[in-house]
Amino acid sequence: MQITGKTILITGGSSGLGLEFAHQLAARGNTVIVTGRDTAKLFTAVAHIRNVHRITADVSDPTQMASLAELIKTKFPSLSILINNAGILRSTDFGSSPEIIDIEDQIAINLMGPIRLVSLLLPVLRQAPEAMIVNITSGLCYAPFPSAPIYSATKSAMHSYTQSLRMQLEHTNIRVVEILPPSVDTPMLQENMRQAMKGQKLASAQEVAQISITRLESGDREIRIGASNLLHWFSRLAPGMLARQISKSYHASR
Ligand SMILES: NC(=O)c1ccc[n+]([C@@H]2O[C@H](COP(=O)([O-])OP(=O)(O)OC[C@H]3O[C@@H](n4cnc5c(N)ncnc54)[C@H](OP(=O)(O)O)[C@@H]3O)[C@@H](O)[C@H]2O)c1
Repeated sequence: MQITGKTILITGGSSGLGLEFAHQLAARGNTVIVTGRDTAKLFTAVAHIRNVHRITADVSDPTQMASLAELIKTKFPSLSILINNAGILRSTDFGSSPEIIDIEDQIAINLMGPIRLVSLLLPVLRQAPEAMIVNITSGLCYAPFPSAPIYSATKSAMHSYTQSLRMQLEHTNIRVVEILPPSVDTPMLQENMRQAMKGQKLASAQEVAQISITRLESGDREIRIGASNLLHWFSRLAPGMLARQISKSYHASR
């Protein structure tokens, strides 16, 4: 699919990968709609990008998601690409007392949010000659990051959900794609996470968005980038060794 002249909704477009996707997709002549919870942050982030519409909406709020879907149906009925990008990452330590609210937030935003939005927007996407649902998961689908167990679990769940959704929609106009980025240099990775990653090389949001768009256009369905590819193969060829190495690094970083 040529990604130009399309109407595209990106959740979480005020920062990091979502903002970079907005930049690059708008520059290709697409109409881009971005969402986020923080109105001021969202407006400032995309103020200088042409062809971008901003809608304040929290993916974890069912009422706001229903309103967003209604708005899309009336104002942007030609929507043909949904990019489920909004996400949060929190460290959760079950060795002490984990914050239940942090756990619930991650599940609501990273897992329930995209599943709800897909359900709400399928009627719109079905109207397009060709459409795409793009779920941004993570290389952590193949191997968990013990410092962020809930985040890792939500991404694995999204990986499985995306596979089922793809199978269900196989003979329709809607292609279901998963992008599995490696660690990316965005505000999501707070200082404690960067320390736990022990100087691991971070990809730039710009290169990840660029590679993703090229591979979306070429028809790929599971877009693993950089270290995500390595994790994929290691998790298949030497799962025990990979698990031992991850556990060792986790304990060494504490
Ligand atoms: N950075 C990495 O290393 C990495 C690696 C693999 C995968 N990913 C995935 O890539 C995606 C983007 O991450 P990023 O690194 O670009 O993070 P980021 O820079 O922190 O940006 C996250 C975006 O999501 C929005 N957001 C968060 N909660 C939201 C909610 N409840 N409703 C609507 N919008 C919400 C934020 O805006 P507000 O604050 O205004 O809500 C922001 O625009 C995520 O799904 C993440 O899991 C990231």
